[in-house]
Amino acid sequence: MESLIKQWDGESVIIRYDRVADAWIFIAIHSTALGPSAGGTRMKPYPHLKEALEDALRLSGGMTLKWAAAGNDYGGGKGVIAVPDSLDSQGRSDLLRRYGTFVHQYNGIFFTGPDYGTSSEDMDIIAETGDPYIFGRTKAAGGSGNPGPYTALGVLTSIQVVAEQVFGTSNLEGKKVLVQGVGSVGRGLTTLLRDTGAEILISDVNPSSTQYFSDEFGLESIPPDEVYDRPCDIFAPCAVGAILNKETIPRLRCRAVAGAANNQLGTPGDADLLRERDILYAPDFIANCGGAMAIIGMEVQGWSHKEAEEKLVHAIKSNLSKVFQMTKADGCSTDEAGKRIADRRLSSA
Ligand code: PHE
Repeated sequence: MESLIKQWDGESVIIRYDRVADAWIFIAIHSTALGPSAGGTRMKPYPHLKEALEDALRLSGGMTLKWAAAGNDYGGGKGVIAVPDSLDSQGRSDLLRRYGTFVHQYNGIFFTGPDYGTSSEDMDIIAETGDPYIFGRTKAAGGSGNPGPYTALGVLTSIQVVAEQVFGTSNLEGKKVLVQGVGSVGRGLTTLLRDTGAEILISDVNPSSTQYFSDEFGLESIPPDEVYDRPCDIFAPCAVGAILNKETIPRLRCRAVAGAANNQLGTPGDADLLRERDILYAPDFIANCGGAMAIIGMEVQGWSHKEAEEKLVHAIKSNLSKVFQMTKADGCSTDEAGKRIADRRLSSA
C-alpha cells in the first residue's frame, strides 16, 4: 500500500476504518487545481484491501482528466468503500450515514455522487448526514437522479463519432456493437442503440442482467470469456476497468473502442498497442463524462434536462474531434491527445 501511494501523482488520501461494519473507506483526492475534488463513491467487496486503495487512486486520477476535459471547475476525487460480503441492508444504510458524516467533516474538499455499487437512493441516505456535498440524489429528494442515462447518451455520441472516423458515417444501421456490461450505463446504452438500427451484442458476468434484453428483444448474449475474441465493428466496454491490456488487445476483432468504463487501459502504453492494431480508441474520460457533466450542470449550474443532454453531446463531439485531429497531426495516441486537452486546462489554473 505504501508503494501505491508513493507512486501516485495525486494530492492526498483519507483513510478510515469503520469498525461497526468492518468496512474500509478511502477517499482519494487527486487534484484540487481547478476546484474542490468530486467523484463517485464506489462500494463493493474487494478480495484484497490493496485493490480498494488502488481503485480509489486510479479512479480519482481519471476524474481529474474528466472534469478538466469537460470544462468543469472540479478536481479529481473518488470514494471507495470496501465492504464485507455479509453486510445486510440495515447495516449498509447505517454505514452510508456514517460515510456521509465523514464526507461532511471535510467541509467540501470532496463532493460525491453515485458510482459502481451505489445509487441515487444511496445518495439520499448519505446526504442525511453529508449534505450539501452529495450530488445525484433522487428527484424526490431534490436531486437530478441517476446519472447513468446521461453517461449512456454520451457513450452513444462517442460511438457515433468514432463510426464517422472509421466508416465515414455516424449512421450505425447494421453496425455490430458489442456492449460489455449491462449495468446502469450499459443498459441505457443498449436501449439507445436499439433505436439506431445497430446490431447489438451484449455480455455480462451476471447472466440475469442480459436475460431481460435476450428475452424481450432477442439480443445475442456473449459469454464473458469470449468478449475479446468476438468480431464486431465497435466494442463498448461498460463494466470494469483495465480491460484493454497486453493480453486482450491482440485478441480484439473490432475497428474501434468507445465505452463507459473508467480507466479502460491497463497501462498508458496500451493506447499505443491499440493504435498499432489500427483500432480507434475514444479516451474513456472523454466518452464517459456525460453523467458527471449533466449532474453538475443540472444541480450546480441550473441546466434543464434538455440543456444537459445538448451540452454533453456537444462537449463530447467537440473533444473527440479535437483528439482525432491531434492524433492525425502528430501521430500520438488518442489517450495522449485527450490528456493534452485536459492538461491544457489544468496548467492554466
Ligand atoms: N460515477 C461518475 C463518474 O465516474 C461520478 C459522478 C457522478 C460524479 C455524478 C459526480 C456526479 O463519472
